[in-house]
Amino acid sequence: MTQDNAFISFRNVNKFFGKYQAIDDVSLDISHGEFFSLLGSSGCGKTTLLRMLAGFEAVSSGEIYIDGQPMSGVPPHHRPVNMVFQNYAIFPHLNVRDNIAYGLRKQKLSRAKRNDMVDDMLELIKLPEYGDHKATQLSGGQRQRIALARALILKPKVLLLDEPLGALDKQLREQMQLELRALQKTVGITFVFVTHDQEEALTLSDRIAVMSEGRYLQVDTPTGLYENPVSREVASFIGTMNFFDGTVTSIKDGNAVIKVDGLGEVSAPVGTMPLMAGNTVTVAIRPEKFLLTDDKPDGLQYSVKGQLNNAAYLGERSHYYVSIEGVSQPTAVSTQNRGRTKEIEAQNRPVWLSWDSAAIVVLKDV
Ligand SMILES: Nc1ncnc2c1ncn2[C@@H]1O[C@H](COP(=O)(O)OP(=O)(O)O)[C@@H](O)[C@H]1O
Ligand SMILES: [Mg+2]
Repeated sequence: MTQDNAFISFRNVNKFFGKYQAIDDVSLDISHGEFFSLLGSSGCGKTTLLRMLAGFEAVSSGEIYIDGQPMSGVPPHHRPVNMVFQNYAIFPHLNVRDNIAYGLRKQKLSRAKRNDMVDDMLELIKLPEYGDHKATQLSGGQRQRIALARALILKPKVLLLDEPLGALDKQLREQMQLELRALQKTVGITFVFVTHDQEEALTLSDRIAVMSEGRYLQVDTPTGLYENPVSREVASFIGTMNFFDGTVTSIKDGNAVIKVDGLGEVSAPVGTMPLMAGNTVTVAIRPEKFLLTDDKPDGLQYSVKGQLNNAAYLGERSHYYVSIEGVSQPTAVSTQNRGRTKEIEAQNRPVWLSWDSAAIVVLKDV
């Protein structure tokens, strides 16, 4: 049973290595043409999920469908997928052209046809002049583009990418992220991308599955994950989040009134969460949702007095830690440095933190 518009479906997929359960009952739908990322720390099962999709690893139970077809028993080379790895296996003895054409060697194509296809790929990866270069003469970023071209020339319906940018340094990595995103939109096929780097996942993806211990915690768009995390685990994995302990005192018109340690009473929308008066909850607020001022401002719903005890100037923004009476952890605050920013003044001085109810994410304690 697959969802109507799903192109790839995992249905109750489990994977055991001996007694160790690497994947725990995963059901997941990925749409046609989506840039979909699996994000999570090392060992959470990202590669295992990808390898099962590619057919390099069998599922222990459950089923994977691609384009409506069950994949059990279908060998890798008969699946409409191709995979790109982190340690791009470029053949050093072949030139760029022959590396890209490598997968075509079993297809009976005319020399002219093959050359045309390679030319298209060289154009696509923006290396039109490099066909005759030796693979060993290329930079890391260029080699990774060759690896992409070699996979794409086979016209897979799905491209699987396992931390393909992991070996590149930061600047090149960021440039390649933009190129990869543009390239995926150009070719229009489904990408399933694995990374442990949250910023990379946010930059590239239409949707992201945040994984932990063989399961996913939440599947959502980058904005959805950041603005509406469903658990403390997701909220602290994506970006920085401040957590405060609270107790629901009443619920009215879809809003909860919550008494929050250190912050006082706040009201926040509860969405579909089944909350009742008396429930203990976590109130979560991102650092940039606070306004930090010397004097108490007008116009924002909530304000609390605190003590500024740490500040760091980072160019386009500054980070602060503010201690609030009744809150055990210092509260992280970040500000955009619009206009010409002055030197940060003396620390250990009183400040005001202000916010409104739109800044508040309510998480039910489990
Ligand atoms: N072939 C294997 N045999 C035994 N254990 C494995 C095998 N492959 C992966 N695992 C284990 O399964 C878990 C998930 O691994 P993996 O999917 O590679 O994680 P990730 O790619 O998220 O880092 C890890 O604990 C890993 O040690
Ligand atoms: Mg891995």
